[in-house]
Amino acid sequence: MKKANRPFLSKYRIFNYRDELSKTTPFSYSPQPPDSFIKEFADYFENTVNWDSPGVLYNIHPNVNVYGQIASFLAEFTNPNFAQDISSGKLMLIEKQIIEYFATLVNWEPRETGGIFTFGGKGTNLYGLKVALDKTFPNLREEGLCGKIKVISNDMGHPCHIEVCNWAGIGIKNCVRLKTKNCTLSIESFRKTFEDMIKNGEKLPLVILNGLSTLNHAVDDIQGIAKARDELVAKYSLDYTPHIHVDSVLGWVYLLLSRYDFEKNPLNIKANVLSIIKEKYLLMANIKYADSFGVDFHKTGFCSYSSSLFITKNKDALHNIERVYHEDNTLEFSKCSPYNYSLELSRSHRGPISAFATLKTLGVEGFVQLLGTFTECFLYMKETLNSQDHVKVLNYEENSNILFFIFKPFKEIEFKENMDPQLVEKIRTFNTEFYQFLIHKLELGKTNVFFSCSRSHKYLNQSFGSIKIYSYNAHFNLNEAKKVLGEIDDLFKEYTQGFETVKNYNIFDFLDVKGISK
Ligand SMILES: Cc1ncc(COP(=O)(O)O)c(C=O)c1O
Repeated sequence: MKKANRPFLSKYRIFNYRDELSKTTPFSYSPQPPDSFIKEFADYFENTVNWDSPGVLYNIHPNVNVYGQIASFLAEFTNPNFAQDISSGKLMLIEKQIIEYFATLVNWEPRETGGIFTFGGKGTNLYGLKVALDKTFPNLREEGLCGKIKVISNDMGHPCHIEVCNWAGIGIKNCVRLKTKNCTLSIESFRKTFEDMIKNGEKLPLVILNGLSTLNHAVDDIQGIAKARDELVAKYSLDYTPHIHVDSVLGWVYLLLSRYDFEKNPLNIKANVLSIIKEKYLLMANIKYADSFGVDFHKTGFCSYSSSLFITKNKDALHNIERVYHEDNTLEFSKCSPYNYSLELSRSHRGPISAFATLKTLGVEGFVQLLGTFTECFLYMKETLNSQDHVKVLNYEENSNILFFIFKPFKEIEFKENMDPQLVEKIRTFNTEFYQFLIHKLELGKTNVFFSCSRSHKYLNQSFGSIKIYSYNAHFNLNEAKKVLGEIDDLFKEYTQGFETVKNYNIFDFLDVKGISK
């Protein structure tokens, strides 16, 4: 079903769930023969994205490492439950091994560091919040939340920072999303907000910082914020210290670069690329000043969904959640029981095992090679697109492996704040219709590219219908980048010759759905 260059496992087809449900074969009373089941099952792969195809530029969604998948598939036949070692055997050692590895990467004491694989990037932030609340309110488990509680995040942070405040019963109004400057949180703004909270009698259990933000790959000044926090805690003699969690579910991968010799540059990475990845690594290395952070192997680790890991500098903070668990130094088999503190009592082995096999078989070298390649490709695509008169790259100033750009309906457009609303609308329509054209071509099976478009992404405070391209596919390289740009260019030329859509396709807009751009 899967073809190397096709973006989907079938032709793209818009269907309605209700119509399809009425056509499905009913569950039969008698067993279905496997060959007939396989035939039926195969149909459900319609519209499934082929993340191995280099033309898929849709999101931070990797193709999967084969060894990672096979290792977790093999382990699955033993049906382990990672709630306890008794139900899983020595396989659970793998989780500990990965946590200790990350501790060494960030210069934390491995034996003091704790962590747990959980159900997604949102889960890692939820763990950050839970641990933070427990530290701030030692009687939380017995008495529940009390008093005025605030959480600081910022406007570049993922919307799940707000959502976890809802899940934890803090209330989304109490998640303060500070305005960033140049995409990062300023120390002055943090300091003032925290100080005001102290004066208002409010408590700040948690500060969430970005360790590569979703849309612009920004990294907050982790060291600077930690220092400001400590100064204010001392100045006001607070009886608690706000916990700093770094949402690094994307950026963790740069921590592997602590093992790369930038001087000798054994992989011969080009100087301009090397300087970008080194800068990202140095910013991420400051994670050592935080109290916890998140790692999503299903984002930047070539693993399947979901493979998220929450890591905390002080394992007691995590183990103490239900007050019953303690690990001694030796930890004898049969005593390893995350069951006693985890949110999930039934816990999949998939994250730890696929992450383990992927880290082992790609090695630091493989990851660095790929980061270098992606960075080079995005630099190339940024420069190529920006050199075209009819294109405007909206995030040209950023060094992120994500591009937002628009096609101009005519060349002479001066982009500034408060542009003529009719012109803004014209540009937006020009681009969203281009996107409609893309879907039309996908339906015909006549294009090999697939990317997203956002009605609401903002540039200079206006929405132009930005086209977003993003790849985290190990098959992507400079050659493929050239090919996809060629395809996008051909599509655009064809689009400008005019086309008739028969439908008004829905544009799924991540930014709209999650309110990221607001
Ligand atoms: C920075 C960041 N944090 C958290 C999340 C949420 O992760 P998940 O969808 O795995 O829950 C995302 C998702 O894209 C993200 O980019």
